[in-house]
Amino acid sequence: MQAIVITGAAKRVGKALAEFFADRDWEVGLHYNRSVKEAEDLARRLQQRFPHRHFPLLACDLSDPEAVARFWDQWPGELPFPEVLVNSASVFEPASLAETDQDLWRRQFQVNFEAPFVLMQELHKRGSGGSMLNILDTRITNAQSSHAAYSLSKKALAELTRMAALEWAPAWRVNGVAPGPVLPPPGKDAAYLQKVAEAAPLQRPVALDELLDAVWFLVTNRAVTGQIVFCDSGAHLIG
Ligand SMILES: NC(=O)c1ccc[n+]([C@@H]2O[C@H](COP(=O)([O-])OP(=O)(O)OC[C@H]3O[C@@H](n4cnc5c(N)ncnc54)[C@H](OP(=O)(O)O)[C@@H]3O)[C@@H](O)[C@H]2O)c1
Repeated sequence: MQAIVITGAAKRVGKALAEFFADRDWEVGLHYNRSVKEAEDLARRLQQRFPHRHFPLLACDLSDPEAVARFWDQWPGELPFPEVLVNSASVFEPASLAETDQDLWRRQFQVNFEAPFVLMQELHKRGSGGSMLNILDTRITNAQSSHAAYSLSKKALAELTRMAALEWAPAWRVNGVAPGPVLPPPGKDAAYLQKVAEAAPLQRPVALDELLDAVWFLVTNRAVTGQIVFCDSGAHLIG
């Protein structure tokens, strides 16, 4: 049986990924930080549906480097080490370059770049091979600075994806998915999402199922590494 760990698995995209892989017979490690109740509810529900499989809960504040260094110690010793990691957790804070202070810069880079890097590095060290998948953002192709530190952290993660794919082959495949708008940010509604998405060539938001399909392809296709799939209604074409 294969095991996958998904960061930010209690809510939104991460939760959908956890349910998607559980439905396909995987064991799923559910990382969370603040969403304790949501994570526990999800683990309980999955355990009820699939009583013979494991859904370990992995707590970690990804902005705390010491906690990140201990992340994999939480993996239950009686289970085989996971073959797949999906880095989905992120922080998405608006601020132009001029508005970005050191605290915001650190928060964005620690959660969106440094933590995924350390989780990948440790998995590479402790595991015996498999696949790593970073959720990026179509913004990696443009120079828009409305979320400057966020965009820069995802650009760095995209480069890391390619570099790790080369260095850690053949044991590990490393890929990325760069979505366009999938879910409205907290506080915004579907009309907001539609409006933002209309700027893309296909003039539509990305359905959650479409994003899940892209992740599934990259995680399971054993000939593919170092790829970044833009699942963004073509937004990367116009930058
Ligand atoms: N949503 C979209 O339309 C969209 C578009 C483009 C790219 N993406 C990318 O797709 C991924 C998933 O998107 P999303 O909208 O589902 O993400 P999200 O709601 O912004 O965040 C997902 C999770 O990240 C976790 N997180 C935030 N800060 C953390 C910290 N300090 N330590 C540990 N976990 C932390 C949170 O976990 P807790 O709740 O447990 O604290 C949260 O549930 C992200 O990488 C995002 O950049 C999303």
